[in-house]
Amino acid sequence: MIDTTIATQRKLSNSLGDIKEYSLTKTGLQATLDNAFLTIEVYGKGLIKVDISASPERDENPYSVIKTAEQDSFVSEDTNGCIKLSTELVTLEITKNPTRLTFKTKSGQVINEDDPAFGTSFIGEQITTYKKLQYKERFIGLGEKTGPLDRRGSGYQHWNTDHFGYGPESDPLYCSTPFYIGVHSGLSYGIYMDNSYKSHFNFGASNDRFSSFSVDSGDMSYFFIYGDSVGEILNYYGQLTGYTPLPPIWSVGYQQCRYSYYPDKEVERVAETFREKDIPADVIVLDIHYMEKYKIFTWDGEMFPDPESLVKHLKELGFHVVVMCDPGIKIEDGYSAYESALAEDLFVKYPDGSYYSGEVWPGVCHFPDFTMEKTRQWWGEQMKSYTDIGVDGFWNDMNEIATWGQMLPELIEFDFEGDRNTARKGRNIYGFQMSRATYEGTKAALKGKRPFNLTRAGFAGIQRYAAVWTGDNVASDEHMMVGVRLVNSMGLAGIAFAGYDVGGFVGNSNEQLFARWVQIGAFSPFFRGHSMINSRDSEPWSYGEEVEEISTNYIKLRYKLMPYLYSSFYETSKTAIPVARSLAIDYTHNDTIYNEQFQNQYLFGQSILVAPVESYKNLVKVYLPEGEWYEFFTDSKFQGNQEVVAECGIERLPLYVKASAIIPICPEANTNTKNLGETLEVHIYAGLEKNTFTYYEDDGETFDYEAGSYHKRTITYDPTSNSIKLGQVEGEYTSKIKTLRLCLHGFEGNSFQLNNESKSAENHGYRFVDPISNFDPFGNETGAGLKINNIKSIQANYTNDELAFSW
Ligand code: NOJ
Repeated sequence: MIDTTIATQRKLSNSLGDIKEYSLTKTGLQATLDNAFLTIEVYGKGLIKVDISASPERDENPYSVIKTAEQDSFVSEDTNGCIKLSTELVTLEITKNPTRLTFKTKSGQVINEDDPAFGTSFIGEQITTYKKLQYKERFIGLGEKTGPLDRRGSGYQHWNTDHFGYGPESDPLYCSTPFYIGVHSGLSYGIYMDNSYKSHFNFGASNDRFSSFSVDSGDMSYFFIYGDSVGEILNYYGQLTGYTPLPPIWSVGYQQCRYSYYPDKEVERVAETFREKDIPADVIVLDIHYMEKYKIFTWDGEMFPDPESLVKHLKELGFHVVVMCDPGIKIEDGYSAYESALAEDLFVKYPDGSYYSGEVWPGVCHFPDFTMEKTRQWWGEQMKSYTDIGVDGFWNDMNEIATWGQMLPELIEFDFEGDRNTARKGRNIYGFQMSRATYEGTKAALKGKRPFNLTRAGFAGIQRYAAVWTGDNVASDEHMMVGVRLVNSMGLAGIAFAGYDVGGFVGNSNEQLFARWVQIGAFSPFFRGHSMINSRDSEPWSYGEEVEEISTNYIKLRYKLMPYLYSSFYETSKTAIPVARSLAIDYTHNDTIYNEQFQNQYLFGQSILVAPVESYKNLVKVYLPEGEWYEFFTDSKFQGNQEVVAECGIERLPLYVKASAIIPICPEANTNTKNLGETLEVHIYAGLEKNTFTYYEDDGETFDYEAGSYHKRTITYDPTSNSIKLGQVEGEYTSKIKTLRLCLHGFEGNSFQLNNESKSAENHGYRFVDPISNFDPFGNETGAGLKINNIKSIQANYTNDELAFSW
C-alpha cells in the first residue's frame, strides 16, 4: 500500500533525479540527469547561470540578457559524489545523488541551497526550484509588486496585466521582472529567473519550509548573483540585463498629463498657465484624444487641425511633447498604418494563420508582432509621423496586451525572431519589445537626440528602452504610499526611471492629498501629474492658492536639485544603483527599516532621506538609520539609529540629509531644464566620514556624451584633513556654470583657503523653499519655519581646474 502511494507521488511531481553523466565545458558544466538536462555557466565571479530543461532542446528568453558567459573563469573539483565549481567569490556545490545545488561563500557559509527533498521539480510542464528558507531570511525587490518591502510570507505572479484601479495588495500588475534579492545572516544574493512564461514566486507563503520560483513552461533558467552588498548585486543585474541609459534631462523635469487635454487650445492654455504662474515644467503629454478616433499615427482633424504648429508653439513655450502610443491598429480600410502592416504581414496571428483581433480604444484591432525585426522597423518608420513634427517623447500604453475582456487568448502566436511561440511565452515580452521598437525607431529618427520613452508593460531589461510608470492608481493616501513602494521595488529590479501618477489617476484627489503627492513626486525619479477622464482638474493650480504655492515650491525644489538628480541618473547608468533607493540597499541588515511604519522610506540619490507620509498626518515617526542626519529644511541635527517624530503639516515633507553629504544644486533654476542658471551651489553637511560625489553634466539631449562630450568631476569632502575638493574636470563638454558657491552646513569657523588663497566665509540664513502666504493665521504652517538660520558660504569662479578648499 505505502509503496504504491509513493510511486503515485513520484509521478505527480518529478524531481531531477541523479546526475548520470557530466562534462566540464569552457564556461561551466553540462550534465544529463535522470529526469532532465542541467547546464551551468559562469558569467562572472558572482554570477552563475543554472539551466534545467526537460529535453535537450532549449526554450530560452532571447531578449533580456545581453551578457555572455565567461570562459575559463572557474576551477572544479569532484569528490565524494559532489562536484564543486568555484569562482573568485563563490562555490557552487552540486551533489550527484540526487542533483541538488548549494551556493556557498569561499569561507563555506551557505548563501543559498536547494530544498534537500524537492530541489528542482516538474509538475507536468511546470518547473519549480525550491530553496530552503534560511534563518530569518528576507526577500526584497521583484519589481512592480504591491505588498511589503520584506516579501517573506508572500507570493506573487508575473503575468503582465492591465489592472485598472488596482488595490494596494493586487497582483499581478503591468510589468514583470522576475528578479529578487534574498537577505540573511549578513549576506545577500540575487536570483534572476530568465523565463518569460507566467511565473510564480513564493517567499515562504503558506509554508515554513521553502522559497520557490516556478515557470509554467520553458526552461528553468536562473542566474544566481552574489556580491558584497545589495548595490553590487544590482550592478551584476545591470551587467546582465542592461543599465538605464541617461534620459534626456527634460524628461526628468515635471511632466503634465491628463486623459486627455483637448482640443489644441486647451493644451496651450495648460502650457501657458505654467509659464504665467511661474511653475517650472518641461513636458505636456497628449493622451488618446489627440488621435482621430483613437487611431495611432493620426491626429483628430477638428480638435488638432495643425499638430505641427501646436508642437512648435509648445516648444516656444519651453515644452516638449509626449504622445500616447497604443499598439492596437484599427482594422479599417484606408487607414494607412493598418494597410501597410497588413501588406507586410506584421500582425500577431492565431495558429491557423489568421490575424488575432481584439477590441480596444479605436474598436476592433490587430496587433503588431513586435517579436519580429521587420515589425519593429515598420513601427519605427511610422513613428516618423511624430518625430517629423517635433515630438520627441513617446508613451507606450495598453501593451500587456490590454483588450476589452482582458483575456488575451493564450494560443495566439508570436514570431519570436523565427522561433515561433504562443502568448504563454509572448505576453510578458510584448510591452518590452514594443518599447524597444519605439525607442530604436525614434532614436534613429531623432538624429542624435535622445528620445524619452515611457511604458506600462515590460519585462527584465525594459530599462534599456523605457521608463516605467505604475499604471492606473487611485487618488488615495494608501495608493500614494503603495506607489512609493512600487517605485522603490522597481529600483531594486533594475528599473531606475520609474514613477506614479501624481495626484492619483482614478477618482478625485483633494487639497491635502494633492499637496502631499506633489511633494513626494518631486522626489520620484519620474515625476508626472496625471488624472483620468471625467475626474476633477488636477494641475498644480487646481486645488486653491495654498496648494498651488506648496506645489510650486516643491516643483521648483525638484529643479534646483537637478544637478544632484541628473548626476544620480548618471550613476544609475553606470551601476544600476537606482535613483530612489529603498533603505534596504544601504541598510540591508538593519531590521528596523523593514518595519511597516518605516518601509516606505528611501534615499533619493546618495544622501537625501525621504519619509513619505499620508496627507492627513501632521506628525509622523521617522527612522533615521546609523550616522548623523540634518533635517533638510532647518538643519536641525539628529543622531541616527533612532526614531524621531517629524512635523509634516500640509507644506512639509519629512526630509533628512546624511552627514558628510555633498549635494550640488542650481539655486537659480526656473521655467524648465534649459534654464538651470549659471551658479552651482555645492552643499556640504559637516560629518565624520569622508565622502565623494561624482558631479556630472552634459548637453542633456544628445548622445554626444558617448563620444566624450560631458563634464564630470569628483567632489570630495574629507573631514579628517579639513578639505573639500572639486577635482579636475574630465570630458569635453563646456559647462554653463560660471559661479561656484560652497554652502557649508554645520561647519565652524570662517577662515578658508581656496587653492592656498585666504577666503572668508559669509554667514547667512538659507531657504530651500520660499515661505508661503499665511493662509492659517492661527497655525504655524506658513513656510516661515522652513528656514535654516545659519549656513556659511564661500563664492568662487567655477573653473575646470581643481578647486581645493581647506580650513
Ligand atoms: C490607460 C493608462 O494607464 C492611462 O494612464 C491612460 O490615461 C489611459 N489608458 C487612456 O489612454
